[in-house]
This record gives sequence, C-alpha cells and structure tokens, in this order.
Amino acid sequence: MKRLSQTLVALTFLAAKMLAADVEDLRCEYLKDPLGIDSVQPRLSWIITSNHRGEMQSAYHILVASSPKLLKSDRGDLWDSGKVASPDSTQIVYSGKPLSSRQACYWKARVWDQSGSSSHWSKPALWEMGLLQSSDWSAQWITSESLAAMTGRELVIQKAVYSSTGGAMHADVTATLAKHIEGNRLVLLADNRALGADPAPNQKKTLEVDYAVGGQTRRKEINENELLSLPDDADQVPCFRKTFDLSRRIKSATLYVTALGLYEMHINGAKVGDIILAPDWTDYRKRIRYQTYDVTGMLKIGPNALGAMLGDGWYSGHIGNGGFQYFGKVPALMAQLEITYADGQTERIATDSSWKVHTSPIVSSDFMQGETYDARAEIAGWDKAGLNESAWLPAAIREEPKMEFDGIASPPVREIEELKPKSLKESAPGHWVYDMGQNMVGVVRLKISAPAGTKVTIHHAEMLNPDGTIYVTNLRGAPSVDHYICSGKGTEVWHPHFTFHGFRYVELTGLDSPPSMDAVTGIVIASDVPRAGEFSCSDPRLNQLQSNIQWGQLGNYVSIPTDCPQRDERLGWMGDAQVFVRTATYNADVAGFFTKWLVDVDDGQTPEGSFSDVSPNTMGANSVPAWGDAGVICPWTIYDAYGDKRILEKNLPSMIKWVEYLRAHSTGLIRDKDRGNDYGDWLNNGAETPKSVIGTAFFAYSTHLLAKSCEALGRTEDAAKYNALFEDIKAAFVKKYVGEDGRIRGDTQTDYAMALKFGLMPDDLKAKAAEYLAHDIQSRSNHLSTGFIGVGYLLPMLTDSGYLDTAGKLLTQDTFPSWLFSVKHGATTIWERWDGWTPDKGFQDPGMNSFNHYSLGSCGEYLFGYIGGIRPASPGFSSILIKPTILTNSLTWAQAQYDSIHGRIATSWKLTGNKLALNVTIPANTTATICVPTKDAANVTESGKSIKRAEGVRFVRQENDNAIYEVGSGTYKFDSEI
Ligand code: BGC
Repeated sequence: MKRLSQTLVALTFLAAKMLAADVEDLRCEYLKDPLGIDSVQPRLSWIITSNHRGEMQSAYHILVASSPKLLKSDRGDLWDSGKVASPDSTQIVYSGKPLSSRQACYWKARVWDQSGSSSHWSKPALWEMGLLQSSDWSAQWITSESLAAMTGRELVIQKAVYSSTGGAMHADVTATLAKHIEGNRLVLLADNRALGADPAPNQKKTLEVDYAVGGQTRRKEINENELLSLPDDADQVPCFRKTFDLSRRIKSATLYVTALGLYEMHINGAKVGDIILAPDWTDYRKRIRYQTYDVTGMLKIGPNALGAMLGDGWYSGHIGNGGFQYFGKVPALMAQLEITYADGQTERIATDSSWKVHTSPIVSSDFMQGETYDARAEIAGWDKAGLNESAWLPAAIREEPKMEFDGIASPPVREIEELKPKSLKESAPGHWVYDMGQNMVGVVRLKISAPAGTKVTIHHAEMLNPDGTIYVTNLRGAPSVDHYICSGKGTEVWHPHFTFHGFRYVELTGLDSPPSMDAVTGIVIASDVPRAGEFSCSDPRLNQLQSNIQWGQLGNYVSIPTDCPQRDERLGWMGDAQVFVRTATYNADVAGFFTKWLVDVDDGQTPEGSFSDVSPNTMGANSVPAWGDAGVICPWTIYDAYGDKRILEKNLPSMIKWVEYLRAHSTGLIRDKDRGNDYGDWLNNGAETPKSVIGTAFFAYSTHLLAKSCEALGRTEDAAKYNALFEDIKAAFVKKYVGEDGRIRGDTQTDYAMALKFGLMPDDLKAKAAEYLAHDIQSRSNHLSTGFIGVGYLLPMLTDSGYLDTAGKLLTQDTFPSWLFSVKHGATTIWERWDGWTPDKGFQDPGMNSFNHYSLGSCGEYLFGYIGGIRPASPGFSSILIKPTILTNSLTWAQAQYDSIHGRIATSWKLTGNKLALNVTIPANTTATICVPTKDAANVTESGKSIKRAEGVRFVRQENDNAIYEVGSGTYKFDSEI
C-alpha cells in the first residue's frame, strides 16, 4: 500500500513537471517525411503548440534512429542530441553519425520550457537519404530512338515550300528541312528561325511538305508556328516496360526515377505516386532532379511490371520565347528499383536495353501546343505483367554527359484542387464554351461518350471576345489545344499528362450532340507548397484582390517561379520573381521552392558574375537591373522569412560575384552601361523612370543586402566592406540624380518609392521624397503610374512616411490604373498590365497581354505586413513585429493570419467609431513587439484589464500614435481609442 501511494506521489510530481505544450509539425529541410534528401546534414524544425502565455523553449532533445523500433524504445542510434540548452526550434543541423545513401532516419523531439518542465516526445517523423554518389546509379538512360530508327522507315524530304497563305510569296526550304532529320524523324517548330527564311514578313504563312517514309509518299501542310513532326508518329510519346519476377517476401522497395523530359511511372497497372511534371525544370546541361518513391506496397510475389511514359516537357519540347528542343531532341528515362527482401537480400531493376518500348496513345504532347490522345491506340495492360510484347522493340541506350543528380528540395508539382464549371454556352454552332469561374492553371478532365474516332478538341482561353467566343490571340505561339480521339467504349474519362494551360474558359468542339456540364472538370496544378497566409477585410474588393494574388502565385509557381502560364513564355523571369517574393512568403511556405530555384539561378550565372534574365537560363545572362538582382534579393528574403542561414551561405559567393560585376560594369558607381536588355520599370503607366537611375539604385540595394547577409553570417570584414560600398554608391546616386530640393531625375513615383525603400535619400531629404511621391499620386487623382519595379514599394513607403490617407485612397482606387480596376472588371487573377483590357479600348496589344502575371500583385506584402501588421522583427519570425495600419478612410476591420516557421501568427482589428479592438496571437517560442494604435496608452486595456494587470504584457513606450508593448506567446485582446 505504501509503495502504491509512493508511486502515485511520484506520478503526480511527474505530471506537474510535464509541459502543457506539444511538439508538432516535424519537418526536415522544410518537408514532411521527405524521401531522397541529399544534404548530408539536413536541418530539422518543429512547432510548439501551447495555450499558455509566454511559452518559451529552454532546451530540446532530438533522437534519430535507424528503425522505428529503436526510436520507440527511445534509442537514437544515429543521433541522440541529449538535452541541449537552446531556444532553437527551427533550422537545427543534424549532427549525428555520418549519413550515407538510402539511410532511413526516424526521429522525434521533446522540449523544456523556462521552468524546466518537459513536453512529451513528439510523434515520430521520417526522412530518408537519397542517392548521394553518382556510383549509386547503375541505371542507364533509355530512349525511344529505336522506334524511329526502325529499318524500312527511311524518311526523305522531297519538296518543302514555306509561303504566304495563297502562295504569292514563297521560299524553298527543302534542304533546310532535310538537315533536321535525325534517326528517321524530324520534329521542328515551323517558324522563321527554324526554317531560315521569312518569305512574307508580317503575313500568315504555311509550310507544305512532300515526303516519303519507307518509300511511301505523303504530304503534310501546317501553319507557321505549328509543330512539324514527320512521320506522323515522330513526336508520339513512347511508353516503356520491364517485367520481372519476385520470388520471396519483400521488406521494402524504393524507386528512384528521373528523366530528360517528363515521366510518369507505373507499377502493376497503377501510377506511382501523385507527382506530375516530374522531374522538375532545371538546367539539364548541369543538373537534374530525381524523385524517390516508396513502392513497397505496389509489388507482389510473382510476375511484376514497371511501365513508364516519357514526354518532352522542358527538355525537348517548346519552352517559351521560341525555345524548341532547347536542351535536347529526344527525351530519355532513368529509373532504378531497389528491392530489399525480408531475408535481407537485395535486388535492383534498372533501366537498360532489356526494357521494351512502344508508342503510347499520346500522339503528341507539348507545353505550348497541347496534347493529342488517341484512345483507340490504348494498349490494355501495357503496365502489367503478362502482356504479349511481340510488337515492342528493345529500348535504345544513350550516353549523356556527366551532370549533377539532385534529390528533393522543393515540394513537387501535384494536382491541387478541382473546379466545376459555372456555366456552359454555345458561342457558335458546335462551339461549347465552359466558364470555370476562375482563371486557373492546369488541365481539363474530359468525361464524354461518343462514337469511336470522334475527335474532341479542347481550346483554352483566359478571356472571351465581346461576341462570347474565346479570346486566344494573347496566347501568341502557344495554341494550347488538346485533342481527344474517342475509343467509342461508353463513358470515357481522360486528362492530358504532359502539358498544362492557363485558362478560365474551355471550348469543346467536334461533338455531334451538346455536351453536359460535367463533361469538363478543371484540374488545378502547381508546386504543392503549403498555404501559409489568409487575409480578409471589410472591403470585399480587396478580398478579391488577395484571392487574385493567391491564384496568380499558385498558377505561376509550377516547378519554378514563372511570369505567366498561358502564352509561349512561362519562363523563370528573375525580375518577376524578386518583386513578388516577399508577398509569396506570406501566401505560402515557399522556402523549399526557392531553395531549389536558387540553385537554378546560381547555375545561370556567368563566371564573371552576371545573372541571367531567366532561370533556368535559356536566354543568356544580361545583367539587367532588377532582374539580375533577384540573385541577391531572393536569398535574402528567404533568409529573413525563414531564418535560413544556409541559403545565404550557399548563395553568398554568387551574391558577391554579382555586386563585384556591377561595380566593374559601372562608371564611378553609376550604372550607366552594360545593362543588357534593360527593361526599366516594365509596363509602367506612362511614367518612365530613367534606366540608369533604376540600375544604380538596385546596385546600391543589392550591395546593402549583401552587407546584411555578411553580417548575418558573421563575416564582419566583408560586411564592413559592402556597407562602405553601399554608402559610396548612395553618395554617387545622390550626387548624380538627386537635386538639392530632393527631386530625383525622372521625377516618377517609382523614383521616390524606390529611393526611400532602398535607403538612398539623405536624411534631410527623406520627407521631401515622400511628399513628392504622395503629391504625384494625389495629382493623378490617387492613381499610380508605376510598373513592375516600383509598384510593391508604393504603399509601404507612403505609410512609413505618414501618408496613410493617400495610401488608403490608392489601395481602394478602382478606376484606371489601379489594383482594383481589374477586380472591378471581373479579374480573378492579377493582370500583366494595368490596361490589359479597358472599357474604351478593349484588349491591349496581344503581343504582351497576359491575364495571369503576379508581378503587379506585389502589393500583397502590404496587406499582410501593414494592414494585418505581421512582420518579422528578426529572421524567421523568432521575434515578431505586430504593427497594424488602420486605414481609417477605407476599412473598418481586417484580419490576417500567417503560418510562420514557428507557428501561427494572427491579427484582427475592428474599428467602431474611434474605438479599436485588436486581437493578436503569437506562437510559442517567439516574442513580439505589438504596436497598439492609440494616441494615449492610458486608455489601452488587454482582455478587459488595465495593462498593468494583464498577464505577460509589458509596456515599453508611447511612440507617435502607437503604444508599444512586449509580449510572449499567447492570444491578446487589446482595446484602445485612436
Ligand atoms: C515577361 C515579363 C518579363 C519581361 C521582361 C516579359 O515577356 O512576361 O514578365 O519580366 O518579359 O521584361
């Protein structure tokens, strides 16, 4: 009896010492349970959830084990950190035994608070190492070249004529085409560049080709900018298969796959994983990403089959600005299945010449052109064991130059959600137009029942013409048309595999009878980055604006940050990426996404230090102001948002090279030369900022961010060096461009917003610059004039300078040009230009008129950081600044929430007369400075109590119109009078 009561006392004591907090959301390199990590010292993070105010971690304990069993018995054979006195709960570097390829790491963590109470162990999590050495790969590159090279299929071009429609002007391009034949196939984008002629400038042209395959004469006619593929199946997507027997029980099986192109792997009749457009876009001349799948449950004892389809994708398809077959001509696949049997023996099945190849029902597939699928050509059981393979050929083997193989860094592209159409109309006889209600990026899933051979054509468009037909001229050289040829076997369901489109409207043609509403479903695709932010306020138009920004980000973050998803571009434009990156970090957790892309940025830099215009670099490096600077601004922003020092460490050499390049390519620190394709304040509204002013300002800004990066990494000497350089550039800028009255050359809104944001104005002229900025906006009846470069800085600089009234009017302006102008006219994404469509002029020049370009949506940062008032006070939000901006002339309430790397931060405020209610939530293990808007701190209460009696709230000072408090974690309810 005594024993029992002693035990009870001990248990009660233990319970009292347990922390009422949970350790959750364990992540490795930002990812949940990732497979294929190639960092040998990956970083670990968790979130602490607690209802207590002021919860802080004083210590942690991490266990990493090689099996779930060991972890369960609290044995960290790979790493037992012991109790580490540290507040760190993010970016903790694994410091256990060296990790080798394929190592599975099961881990958990617990924490202690300030009073020494510990939490329970977290739930277990996992990461698995990828293939770290090139010698881990025994797979070979396989291709379908054997299909095209089949004997008896010799391809001969007999006559090829490129002419104006009608034939008045023409050029003989027979010899040019003949030169493009490789392995009995010819695939080429029929444009002036490829054909080496322009017989009729500015006119529509066609290409007529007489050719012979295996002695049989044929003829083909296509329009300019269309894809020529000879013979007809030359660009048919191939499929591969490999059968094998497994004789005994399997313990585990892992599939490693990559492709120069796009792959979809199957095992025993089912698709492997849920990733699409794998293996991601990189500069395939330098590196490729591979994916790792746990396929244990997909294999069985007995006969098994691996199948793969292989599309062109970014590697050998059409990739924007005319880049066709930019990296290579024929896609290739590399896959390696590694099996561990229950008895410990291992077996490996890898791509080699024993794999078989055949054409698939995908007749052609290309990002810009679209996909054509002939359901009549389906091969039942192509991805299962037991198929008669007599019609299949051995796959061809290809040697590839050495390149880096990288594991996972970013969340992959996946199907994110599905949209049902909102309406269906017949725009012309037989033309069925669906409105998806949202400009989206992805593909259409078709559900149709029609006779065999019926060819259903699916057009995609962002807008409608006034007569209700689809508007496609802004797609330029990206027709974006899918075709489905029915098998006639009842209800058929299909969606394309290796393409995507940007669209709100879908037009079906080729059907004999009216289609039903459910014939079309929109499948939204994107890099599957976790959503992090929500914002709403009392003005529904701003809520729509926020939704448009979110959708713009979603649709343009597809493997890399792109400019737009619909026309023949979709490139990793650096300028767009940098103007939007801060907004992006509020909307989603983009840390992994940028970790991956910044490698592509680095790959694109020249040895001399010039950054490219687009990354992956397919356009050369031009050192364009504000575009090249993405190589500094993006790593800095990711560091600031996630506390990621490693991204700075990795990118610091290229940041230094860039700044030194700029120094070498300027005159007296003025960027008056070598600015490449300088785009200036791109798409501004009639207020051109001098390009050398932008160039010099960005030179200063990059130098300043570089100095701060050096400081963050403890490189004090470098920090001092670049701080001094920044001061010198600033002095040169002021001397050259700033008048004594504070006027900046060009006198534009971008001039002043940029100079204030970059800290380029002398102290005594700051107020003047802000005044000129505000006056310019006011003189335009509260309209903006900036393009991509200045737009994101307008509202923050107005607000920081005290022009809240002007900021409110500008933000809620809905006449042209303004953010809400497009919202008023039904936009569901951010338009590329202010005047994409206007009531008086209709559509802008289709040469440059995307309706899904996020850059002008970089005001999103203001919604979260200013109206919601959520900002990092130190990198990674380990300390937080809450400073809501109450736009009294425009809003009565607002709420913002942001899932930081430390957990959820939330604010909401409501104004009733002059009474303000402000609620703030701060996550555990962080502290916050809260600025409560009020003229008099004396009338501020928290949870109905005077501040003196409020738990965990410390008054710091009254500053201007804010009472400033310091708090720890928890939820706080402030009331004040403003
Ligand atoms: C893209 C932009 C890009 C620009 C360079 C355009 O074609 O769509 O967003 O930044 O070129 O000025």
